[in-house]
Amino acid sequence: MKLWQKNGTDTAEVDRFTVGLDREMDLSLARADLLGSLAHTRMLATIGLLAQDELADVQRELKAIYRTVEQGDFRIEEDVEDIHSQVELLLTRRIGETGKKIHSGRSRNDQVLVDLRIYLRREIYEIVGGVERLFRTLQRLADRHKEVLMPGYTHLQIAMPSSFGLWFGAFAEALVDDLAMMEAAYRICNRNPLGSAAGYGSSFPLDREMTTELLGFDSMAYNVVYAQMGRGKTERVLAQAMSAVAATLNKLATDNCLFLCQNFGFIAYPPELTTGSSIMPHKKNPDVWEVMRSKCNRLMALPNEIALMTTNLPTGYFRDLQLLKEVLFPAIRLLGECLGMADYMLQHIEVKHDILNDPKYDYLFSVEVVNRLVLSGVPFREAYRQVGLEIENGTYRPLREVHHTHAGSIGNLCLDRVDALMAEALGRFGFDRFLRAEEELVAEG
Ligand code: ARG
Repeated sequence: MKLWQKNGTDTAEVDRFTVGLDREMDLSLARADLLGSLAHTRMLATIGLLAQDELADVQRELKAIYRTVEQGDFRIEEDVEDIHSQVELLLTRRIGETGKKIHSGRSRNDQVLVDLRIYLRREIYEIVGGVERLFRTLQRLADRHKEVLMPGYTHLQIAMPSSFGLWFGAFAEALVDDLAMMEAAYRICNRNPLGSAAGYGSSFPLDREMTTELLGFDSMAYNVVYAQMGRGKTERVLAQAMSAVAATLNKLATDNCLFLCQNFGFIAYPPELTTGSSIMPHKKNPDVWEVMRSKCNRLMALPNEIALMTTNLPTGYFRDLQLLKEVLFPAIRLLGECLGMADYMLQHIEVKHDILNDPKYDYLFSVEVVNRLVLSGVPFREAYRQVGLEIENGTYRPLREVHHTHAGSIGNLCLDRVDALMAEALGRFGFDRFLRAEEELVAEG
């Protein structure tokens, strides 16, 4: 029987259709749901809606249920509609009538909202951890291989000398910018919608400052109508930030596929990190990077999917919003896997030395030759013309030394500056606030 049912009638078909995968999805929200209730009930006691002994019972049991979630033993029963109903049901079974009091001043609409924000901010924290680990690996590789040159391309035509230092470092720096998007998502996510109830507040004098503080939110989402509008928006903005990370991984994956191709042959992986063919015995395919590319393409489609699912919805709650969990939650896992796998692969990458000694790369140095003439006093346009003619008449000779010293170039990667940018980006999140608040909420005694 549902929370909202006043008699015992139920239609299995309607239940199957409307609940769908929601029980499964809601398992991910269990921890957050309990944290929300731990804070809400402490607040209810301060405004006289729960007596101190009732609060003690509720807190003890909520913490006990929380532990079952942490141990992986928590279930949502077959005929229970969602996580919110399951927690209330368990509580009522254990402590009777008091369990039925915890919903005062609250609706499942703001419950699911606060759950999502508590859940998503932690997922952002995990994603940021994955990004940081990959960043460190890329920076290490950039430093280790900063002297190793490789061709740089434009239009996939050889252009100018580049280096593995530049190549690895570029992806590291991209991740710093991706975190700016992620921080925006975090800021929008980490605001407290609890107290907006069904979407229009409550006639109880709810202390929303208190729950905001207890749950470690940056601030509350003040306007109760806007708090509800946050559903869909939070998901969409997070999806956009995830898609920024995915775009970086996607380019990294494509470069890896290309550079592993025998026609390039710039990098190698141990055989166990490549995959074979059922017919061609020599094959060592970059399936990991290909699958990564495809997974990241799916992630890049996510903001669109969410935008379409929420387009043209008026203000106020709609059940449409429930389905966002089904697209967002698996995508978060997918991104985590991709970040971990990219890091794992790169820890085993081997780079080829002396690539540029091959005469097919001679023209990479044409700009070096032009610049040398410029340094001897020839105006750039004239030097450009001279070298162009040498190339045409076959007298061009490459100058294989590379002298790039300005900031961000082959000889001066500024890795320490990029490290500092990353440290700043990480510091701006301020995860400590919610981590401490959550610890405090579940602490015994
Ligand atoms: N499972 C629902 C969701 O995700 C919970 C909120 C239900 N609220 C309602 N008014 N039916 O949206």
